[in-house]
Amino acid sequence: MATSLKNKWVLITGASSGFGAAAARAFAAEGANIVIGARRLDRLEQVAADCKKAGAPQAHFHALDVSKTASVEQFVAFAKTKTNAIDILINNAGGAHGLDKIADLKDEDMEAMYQTNVMGLLRVTRAVLPLIPKIPGSAILNVGSYAGYEVYEGGGAYSGAKSAERFISRTLRLELCGTNIRVCSIDPGLAETEFSIVRFKGDKEKAKKPYVGTEPLHAEDIAEAMVWVATRPHYMCVDEMLIKATDQASIQKVNRRTQ
Ligand SMILES: NC(=O)c1ccc[n+]([C@@H]2O[C@H](COP(=O)([O-])OP(=O)(O)OC[C@H]3O[C@@H](n4cnc5c(N)ncnc54)[C@H](OP(=O)(O)O)[C@@H]3O)[C@@H](O)[C@H]2O)c1
Repeated sequence: MATSLKNKWVLITGASSGFGAAAARAFAAEGANIVIGARRLDRLEQVAADCKKAGAPQAHFHALDVSKTASVEQFVAFAKTKTNAIDILINNAGGAHGLDKIADLKDEDMEAMYQTNVMGLLRVTRAVLPLIPKIPGSAILNVGSYAGYEVYEGGGAYSGAKSAERFISRTLRLELCGTNIRVCSIDPGLAETEFSIVRFKGDKEKAKKPYVGTEPLHAEDIAEAMVWVATRPHYMCVDEMLIKATDQASIQKVNRRTQ
Protein backbone atom coordinates (compact mmCIF):
# COMPACT_ATOMS: atom_id res chain seq x y z
CA MET A 1 0.00 0.00 0.00
CA ALA A 2 1.26 3.48 -0.85
CA THR A 3 2.49 5.59 2.07
CA SER A 4 0.09 8.46 2.76
CA LEU A 5 1.52 11.90 3.38
CA LYS A 6 -1.66 13.25 4.96
CA ASN A 7 -0.85 15.05 8.22
CA LYS A 8 2.77 13.85 8.05
CA TRP A 9 5.53 16.38 8.79
CA VAL A 10 8.00 17.20 6.04
CA LEU A 11 11.09 19.31 6.72
CA ILE A 12 12.86 20.76 3.67
CA THR A 13 16.14 22.66 3.55
CA GLY A 14 16.81 25.16 0.76
CA ALA A 15 13.11 25.70 0.11
CA SER A 16 13.26 29.37 -0.91
CA SER A 17 13.58 28.50 -4.63
CA GLY A 18 14.03 25.70 -7.14
CA PHE A 19 13.52 22.05 -6.14
CA GLY A 20 13.02 22.83 -2.45
CA ALA A 21 10.22 25.36 -3.03
CA ALA A 22 8.53 23.09 -5.60
CA ALA A 23 8.84 20.12 -3.21
CA ALA A 24 7.23 22.13 -0.39
CA ARG A 25 4.24 22.92 -2.60
CA ALA A 26 4.00 19.33 -3.90
CA PHE A 27 4.11 17.73 -0.42
CA ALA A 28 1.62 20.36 0.80
CA ALA A 29 -0.75 19.33 -1.99
CA GLU A 30 -0.61 15.77 -0.54
CA GLY A 31 -1.86 17.12 2.79
CA ALA A 32 1.47 17.12 4.61
CA ASN A 33 2.56 19.70 7.20
CA ILE A 34 5.60 21.65 6.05
CA VAL A 35 8.62 23.13 7.84
CA ILE A 36 10.99 24.95 5.50
CA GLY A 37 14.29 26.75 5.89
CA ALA A 38 16.77 28.79 3.86
CA ARG A 39 18.47 32.18 4.14
CA ARG A 40 16.00 34.30 2.10
CA LEU A 41 13.09 34.81 4.46
CA ASP A 42 10.90 36.81 2.07
CA ARG A 43 10.95 33.89 -0.38
CA LEU A 44 10.25 31.36 2.38
CA GLU A 45 7.27 33.38 3.57
CA GLN A 46 5.76 33.22 0.07
CA VAL A 47 6.44 29.48 -0.28
CA ALA A 48 4.84 28.82 3.13
CA ALA A 49 1.77 30.81 2.05
CA ASP A 50 1.60 28.77 -1.18
CA CYS A 51 1.81 25.57 0.89
CA LYS A 52 -1.19 26.57 2.97
CA LYS A 53 -3.15 27.33 -0.21
CA ALA A 54 -2.07 24.00 -1.68
CA GLY A 55 -3.51 22.08 1.27
CA ALA A 56 -0.91 21.88 4.05
CA PRO A 57 -2.68 21.84 7.44
CA GLN A 58 0.36 23.74 8.79
CA ALA A 59 3.28 25.42 7.01
CA HIS A 60 6.10 27.07 8.96
CA PHE A 61 9.33 28.73 7.92
CA HIS A 62 12.48 29.81 9.72
CA ALA A 63 15.88 31.16 8.77
CA LEU A 64 18.44 28.45 8.09
CA ASP A 65 22.05 28.57 7.02
CA VAL A 66 23.16 24.95 6.71
CA SER A 67 26.80 26.04 6.69
CA LYS A 68 26.53 27.04 10.37
CA THR A 69 25.93 24.56 13.16
CA ALA A 70 24.30 27.19 15.41
CA SER A 71 21.81 28.09 12.66
CA VAL A 72 20.94 24.44 12.07
CA GLU A 73 20.36 23.96 15.79
CA GLN A 74 18.12 27.06 15.98
CA PHE A 75 16.16 25.86 12.96
CA VAL A 76 15.60 22.41 14.44
CA ALA A 77 14.69 23.94 17.83
CA PHE A 78 12.06 25.99 15.95
CA ALA A 79 10.75 22.84 14.23
CA LYS A 80 10.45 21.19 17.66
CA THR A 81 8.13 23.98 18.81
CA LYS A 82 5.73 22.86 16.05
CA THR A 83 6.08 19.07 16.10
CA ASN A 84 7.94 16.31 17.85
CA ALA A 85 8.18 14.13 14.75
CA ILE A 86 9.62 14.82 11.30
CA ASP A 87 8.40 11.98 9.07
CA ILE A 88 10.23 13.08 5.93
CA LEU A 89 13.51 15.02 5.88
CA ILE A 90 14.54 16.51 2.54
CA ASN A 91 18.18 17.62 2.47
CA ASN A 92 18.09 19.85 -0.57
CA ALA A 93 20.06 23.02 0.29
CA GLY A 94 23.18 23.34 -1.80
CA GLY A 95 24.47 24.27 -5.20
CA ALA A 96 27.51 24.94 -7.33
CA HIS A 97 29.73 28.01 -7.02
CA GLY A 98 31.87 28.91 -10.02
CA LEU A 99 33.11 26.73 -12.88
CA ASP A 100 36.84 27.08 -12.30
CA LYS A 101 39.29 24.33 -13.03
CA ILE A 102 40.99 22.91 -9.94
CA ALA A 103 44.12 24.97 -10.65
CA ASP A 104 42.06 28.17 -10.32
CA LEU A 105 39.61 27.24 -7.55
CA LYS A 106 38.72 30.03 -5.14
CA ASP A 107 38.65 29.31 -1.42
CA GLU A 108 35.23 30.91 -0.98
CA ASP A 109 33.71 28.72 -3.72
CA MET A 110 35.20 25.50 -2.33
CA GLU A 111 34.05 26.53 1.13
CA ALA A 112 30.50 27.28 -0.06
CA MET A 113 30.18 23.98 -1.96
CA TYR A 114 31.47 21.74 0.82
CA GLN A 115 29.82 23.66 3.64
CA THR A 116 26.38 23.27 2.01
CA ASN A 117 26.32 20.10 -0.13
CA VAL A 118 28.40 18.01 2.28
CA MET A 119 28.75 19.53 5.77
CA GLY A 120 25.23 21.02 5.66
CA LEU A 121 23.77 17.65 4.72
CA LEU A 122 25.61 16.00 7.61
CA ARG A 123 24.73 18.75 10.12
CA VAL A 124 21.02 18.81 9.31
CA THR A 125 20.80 15.02 9.29
CA ARG A 126 22.56 14.78 12.66
CA ALA A 127 20.20 17.39 14.14
CA VAL A 128 16.96 16.02 12.68
CA LEU A 129 17.58 12.27 13.07
CA PRO A 130 16.36 12.14 16.69
CA LEU A 131 13.01 13.55 15.48
CA ILE A 132 12.46 11.01 12.70
CA PRO A 133 10.11 8.31 13.96
CA LYS A 134 11.39 4.76 13.54
CA ILE A 135 8.10 3.73 12.02
CA PRO A 136 7.11 2.42 8.58
CA GLY A 137 7.05 5.20 5.97
CA SER A 138 9.70 7.52 7.42
CA ALA A 139 12.29 8.74 4.92
CA ILE A 140 15.32 10.92 4.33
CA LEU A 141 15.61 12.27 0.80
CA ASN A 142 19.02 13.68 -0.04
CA VAL A 143 19.39 15.77 -3.17
CA GLY A 144 22.51 14.73 -5.03
CA SER A 145 23.24 15.33 -8.69
CA TYR A 146 24.17 13.71 -11.98
CA ALA A 147 27.49 15.44 -11.18
CA GLY A 148 27.90 12.81 -8.46
CA TYR A 149 28.07 10.13 -11.19
CA GLU A 150 30.19 11.78 -13.88
CA VAL A 151 32.91 14.41 -13.98
CA TYR A 152 33.49 17.48 -16.13
CA GLU A 153 36.20 20.12 -16.40
CA GLY A 154 35.43 22.93 -13.99
CA GLY A 155 33.23 20.65 -11.90
CA GLY A 156 35.92 19.13 -9.70
CA ALA A 157 34.75 20.59 -6.41
CA TYR A 158 31.02 20.24 -7.15
CA SER A 159 31.26 16.66 -8.46
CA GLY A 160 33.38 15.78 -5.45
CA ALA A 161 30.76 17.25 -3.14
CA LYS A 162 27.85 15.51 -4.83
CA SER A 163 29.61 12.15 -4.98
CA ALA A 164 30.17 12.58 -1.25
CA GLU A 165 26.39 12.97 -0.90
CA ARG A 166 25.89 9.53 -2.51
CA PHE A 167 28.36 7.90 -0.14
CA ILE A 168 26.85 9.66 2.87
CA SER A 169 23.43 8.36 1.77
CA ARG A 170 24.81 4.83 1.42
CA THR A 171 26.41 5.03 4.86
CA LEU A 172 23.17 6.27 6.41
CA ARG A 173 21.34 3.35 4.80
CA LEU A 174 23.68 0.96 6.63
CA GLU A 175 23.46 2.82 9.92
CA LEU A 176 19.66 3.06 9.78
CA CYS A 177 19.03 -0.50 8.59
CA GLY A 178 16.33 -1.96 10.84
CA THR A 179 14.87 1.42 11.89
CA ASN A 180 12.26 1.61 9.08
CA ILE A 181 13.82 4.92 7.93
CA ARG A 182 14.37 4.85 4.17
CA VAL A 183 17.28 6.80 2.67
CA CYS A 184 16.96 7.98 -0.92
CA SER A 185 19.33 9.96 -3.10
CA ILE A 186 17.47 12.04 -5.69
CA ASP A 187 19.98 12.90 -8.40
CA PRO A 188 18.89 15.38 -11.07
CA GLY A 189 20.66 16.30 -14.27
CA LEU A 190 20.28 19.62 -16.10
CA ALA A 191 17.36 21.50 -14.54
CA GLU A 192 16.41 25.15 -14.92
CA THR A 193 16.21 26.72 -11.46
CA GLU A 194 18.29 29.47 -9.83
CA PHE A 195 21.16 26.96 -9.71
CA SER A 196 22.95 28.46 -12.70
CA ILE A 197 22.44 32.06 -11.51
CA VAL A 198 24.13 31.08 -8.24
CA ARG A 199 26.93 29.19 -10.04
CA PHE A 200 27.67 32.26 -12.21
CA LYS A 201 27.28 34.69 -9.30
CA GLY A 202 24.28 36.56 -10.64
CA ASP A 203 25.48 36.87 -14.26
CA LYS A 204 22.14 36.16 -15.95
CA GLU A 205 23.60 35.93 -19.49
CA LYS A 206 26.11 33.25 -18.49
CA ALA A 207 23.47 31.54 -16.37
CA LYS A 208 21.12 31.14 -19.36
CA LYS A 209 23.73 29.46 -21.56
CA PRO A 210 23.43 25.87 -20.26
CA TYR A 211 19.73 25.89 -21.18
CA VAL A 212 19.94 27.47 -24.66
CA GLY A 213 18.36 25.35 -27.41
CA THR A 214 17.66 22.43 -25.11
CA GLU A 215 14.77 21.29 -22.95
CA PRO A 216 15.94 20.98 -19.33
CA LEU A 217 14.07 19.56 -16.36
CA HIS A 218 11.93 21.85 -14.20
CA ALA A 219 11.75 22.07 -10.42
CA GLU A 220 8.25 20.57 -10.47
CA ASP A 221 9.54 17.42 -12.23
CA ILE A 222 11.93 16.76 -9.36
CA ALA A 223 9.30 17.61 -6.73
CA GLU A 224 6.93 15.09 -8.33
CA ALA A 225 9.67 12.44 -8.20
CA MET A 226 10.28 13.20 -4.51
CA VAL A 227 6.60 12.76 -3.73
CA TRP A 228 6.58 9.46 -5.66
CA VAL A 229 9.61 8.19 -3.74
CA ALA A 230 8.16 9.20 -0.35
CA THR A 231 4.77 7.65 -1.09
CA ARG A 232 6.07 4.19 -2.10
CA PRO A 233 4.97 1.39 0.21
CA HIS A 234 6.94 1.47 3.47
CA TYR A 235 8.90 -1.68 2.55
CA MET A 236 10.17 -0.10 -0.68
CA CYS A 237 13.24 2.15 -0.69
CA VAL A 238 14.32 3.88 -3.88
CA ASP A 239 18.04 4.02 -3.08
CA GLU A 240 19.12 6.28 -5.92
CA MET A 241 17.06 8.03 -8.56
CA LEU A 242 18.97 9.54 -11.47
CA ILE A 243 16.67 11.89 -13.39
CA LYS A 244 17.91 13.44 -16.61
CA ALA A 245 16.44 15.56 -19.35
CA THR A 246 15.82 13.50 -22.49
CA ASP A 247 18.17 15.93 -24.25
CA GLN A 248 21.03 15.08 -21.86
CA ALA A 249 22.88 11.91 -22.85
CA SER A 250 25.87 12.48 -20.59
CA ILE A 251 26.95 15.24 -18.27
CA GLN A 252 28.57 17.02 -21.22
CA LYS A 253 26.56 15.78 -24.22
CA VAL A 254 23.40 17.82 -24.43
CA ASN A 255 21.26 18.02 -27.57
CA ARG A 256 20.88 21.67 -28.65
CA ARG A 257 18.43 22.69 -31.37
CA THR A 258 19.89 26.14 -31.90
CA GLN A 259 23.44 27.64 -31.83
N1 LIG B 1 19.37 22.75 -11.00
C1 LIG B 1 20.18 21.77 -11.34
O1 LIG B 1 20.58 21.61 -12.51
C2 LIG B 1 20.60 20.76 -10.29
C3 LIG B 1 21.00 19.50 -10.72
C4 LIG B 1 21.38 18.56 -9.78
C5 LIG B 1 21.36 18.87 -8.44
N2 LIG B 1 20.99 20.11 -8.03
C6 LIG B 1 20.96 20.34 -6.57
O2 LIG B 1 19.64 20.59 -6.20
C7 LIG B 1 19.60 21.33 -4.98
C8 LIG B 1 18.65 22.50 -5.13
O3 LIG B 1 19.14 23.37 -6.14
P1 LIG B 1 18.20 24.11 -7.17
O4 LIG B 1 18.53 23.61 -8.51
O5 LIG B 1 16.79 24.07 -6.72
O6 LIG B 1 18.81 25.59 -7.10
P2 LIG B 1 18.32 26.93 -6.40
O7 LIG B 1 17.05 27.38 -7.00
O8 LIG B 1 19.49 27.84 -6.40
O9 LIG B 1 18.00 26.46 -4.89
C9 LIG B 1 19.01 26.26 -3.94
C10 LIG B 1 18.38 26.34 -2.55
O10 LIG B 1 19.40 26.06 -1.58
C11 LIG B 1 19.36 27.09 -0.60
N3 LIG B 1 20.67 27.29 0.01
C12 LIG B 1 21.85 27.56 -0.59
N4 LIG B 1 22.82 27.74 0.33
C13 LIG B 1 22.20 27.58 1.54
C14 LIG B 1 22.65 27.66 2.88
N5 LIG B 1 23.92 27.95 3.18
N6 LIG B 1 21.77 27.42 3.87
C15 LIG B 1 20.48 27.14 3.59
N7 LIG B 1 19.99 27.07 2.34
C16 LIG B 1 20.85 27.29 1.34
C17 LIG B 1 18.88 28.34 -1.35
O11 LIG B 1 18.28 29.23 -0.43
P3 LIG B 1 18.89 30.60 0.10
O12 LIG B 1 19.79 31.15 -0.95
O13 LIG B 1 17.68 31.44 0.34
O14 LIG B 1 19.59 30.25 1.37
C18 LIG B 1 17.82 27.73 -2.25
O15 LIG B 1 16.62 27.61 -1.58
C19 LIG B 1 21.06 21.72 -4.70
O16 LIG B 1 21.58 20.81 -3.74
C20 LIG B 1 21.74 21.53 -6.04
O17 LIG B 1 23.10 21.26 -5.90
C21 LIG B 1 20.60 21.06 -8.92
